[in-house]
Amino acid sequence: MPFPAAFMDNLIARCDIVDIVGGYVTLKKKGKDYWACCPFHNEKTPSFSVSPDKQMFYCFGCKKGGDVISFIREIENLPYPDAVRFLARRAGLEVPESNQDFHESRQRARLLSLNRDAARFYHQLLKAPEGQAVRDYLQRRRILWKTAVRFGMGASLDRWDVLLNAMTRKGYEKEELLKAGLIVPTKNGGFRDKFRNRLMLPVIDIRGDVVAFGSRVLDKSEPKYMNSPDTPVYSKRRILYGMNLAKNTKRPNFLMCEGNLDVVTLHQAGIDNAVASMGTALTEEQARLVDRFRKKELVFCYDNDNAGEIATTRALELLRTAGFTIRILQLPRRRTESGELVKQDPDDYIKLQGVDAFERLLSGSERAADYRMSQIAAKYDLKTDEGRLQYSEEVSNFLITLDNDVERNIYIQRAADVAGVEAGAISIIVQRIMSKYLRENRSPLSVVYPGASETGREGYMTRNELNPATQLVQPKERAFRYDNVRSARAEEGLVRLLLMDESLFPEPLPLSPGDFSSPILSKAFFTLWDARRNGCPVSFHQLSEALTQEEISHITTVCQGPESPENASKALADYIRVIREEADKRSGRTDGDILEIAQRKYKKQKPKGGKTL
Ligand code: UTP
Ligand code: MN
Repeated sequence: MPFPAAFMDNLIARCDIVDIVGGYVTLKKKGKDYWACCPFHNEKTPSFSVSPDKQMFYCFGCKKGGDVISFIREIENLPYPDAVRFLARRAGLEVPESNQDFHESRQRARLLSLNRDAARFYHQLLKAPEGQAVRDYLQRRRILWKTAVRFGMGASLDRWDVLLNAMTRKGYEKEELLKAGLIVPTKNGGFRDKFRNRLMLPVIDIRGDVVAFGSRVLDKSEPKYMNSPDTPVYSKRRILYGMNLAKNTKRPNFLMCEGNLDVVTLHQAGIDNAVASMGTALTEEQARLVDRFRKKELVFCYDNDNAGEIATTRALELLRTAGFTIRILQLPRRRTESGELVKQDPDDYIKLQGVDAFERLLSGSERAADYRMSQIAAKYDLKTDEGRLQYSEEVSNFLITLDNDVERNIYIQRAADVAGVEAGAISIIVQRIMSKYLRENRSPLSVVYPGASETGREGYMTRNELNPATQLVQPKERAFRYDNVRSARAEEGLVRLLLMDESLFPEPLPLSPGDFSSPILSKAFFTLWDARRNGCPVSFHQLSEALTQEEISHITTVCQGPESPENASKALADYIRVIREEADKRSGRTDGDILEIAQRKYKKQKPKGGKTL
């Protein structure tokens, strides 16, 4: 539900960007703008600017930018409506909510407050005489009291309705307890507590709200862990256990493990960047959550059993196009006294080997590409010709997914060493697979292996950096890459001009969304255009609601481009002409030799990449 335009205008007018940003960083005035070290990436010299005229911010280093709402979204990690509410509260404005929104947000607020009260209640029980069994369990697992408090742990008792009674006494309805997943219906039509006789582990989101509970039995009975179901305030796909604490880490990466108590032990040992996916399969939403905090690396440390390996491989697959480097920390399997191999998780490992040993593993953890390569190697007997041949074939299939030539050459050499063949032999296989892909009109270059870099992010070479010419014209976010740079330049120009002077534009516009080559520029342009047709002022704030943070940053970058009011009408005509020419070319080219098209696409994407392949 959008907020009413009048309210938004009022809000924006009361939220001066220099004021708001100045509350987070120290701004220094230079010329007509203000400067600071960027709060979104690490830097020593200021490249973060705030323009009081345009009411925008922009970082020339990390290229994040936008208006005051985008700033709050970014820095407070809030979705658009919450960022608006946040600013409204600060400005002392009442937010007009629609009836349904009002109902929903009231219900959410009630459930969050119920969860918080339940967590407090369980925590009190942990301190009370009845909590002895759970306290004993904590001691057996060597969890210190201080840690239990930091994680807000609690105890549920071996009784049927302790929580139910306590919370209804506090004024919560049974309905609400049911919605929150804290009680379950019984056969005879009543209700009972869901969690009984367990160590309670509240799941806290990055805003600090208790959104759900995990819980562990105190003995060997089943199920070992019992968690809240999804509720109106909890979607397990979107949460990582421990992120409320880990988001403040000073370490350069996050450490992803499987279990809640792995996270607890790691934090207790000072490894405060640990989070858990609570089970195995990492979701896209969780990956996005990680991405929000702009760490350079994500280190996986799943259990060293088969399930853990499968989960790791799946997660790598999911993160193929993520913007951070991925490394894998493989814990050695442990041999028992009788010689049997048993799995270890980070919790076991730290308790048996100590935190220093774990830190050593962490600093030596493998890059994703090395991990995949050794996984492939482990499948074949490399002492036989047959095995080496099969290995070469499979590893080549992986090698074509690497992001750049330099990287691919390094790994071709490495694969050749493993297989005991000449690097040229692997190259030939790689080439063969590559041309097969092209024939099938699938560009292998759309497959990217982020963790495959040899040098880490600092030295992480993307296709752009290898080719400075394209760096100037292609957006930073991979998802926004332009297919047609000539047209995209003109589309960028239209967005800039529209924001500068909407009255220049002819009505009706001789362009339709389909004429644009870049989806994001089309979306931005037509969002503004629709606002204009609805009689709203065309301003950057219009974009805040419709676009994601990344998209907004990209449009802010676009707005940094030069555009002078003097030549504006000539520029406008040129832009429209170019966009139409390119659109015609596209629609005219309906068929043709598919290989030729594939190669053209390939060459266009990688103009100087033709050396090895
Ligand atoms: P594990 O079975 O690997 O347990 O489950 P663990 O973390 O080593 O647990 P401890 O050390 O015996 O206490 C890993 C994670 O999978 C989820 C939990 O989040 C757990 O931490 N899980 C596991 C469940 O949700 N339900 C289960 O029945 C088991
Ligand atoms: Mn464990």
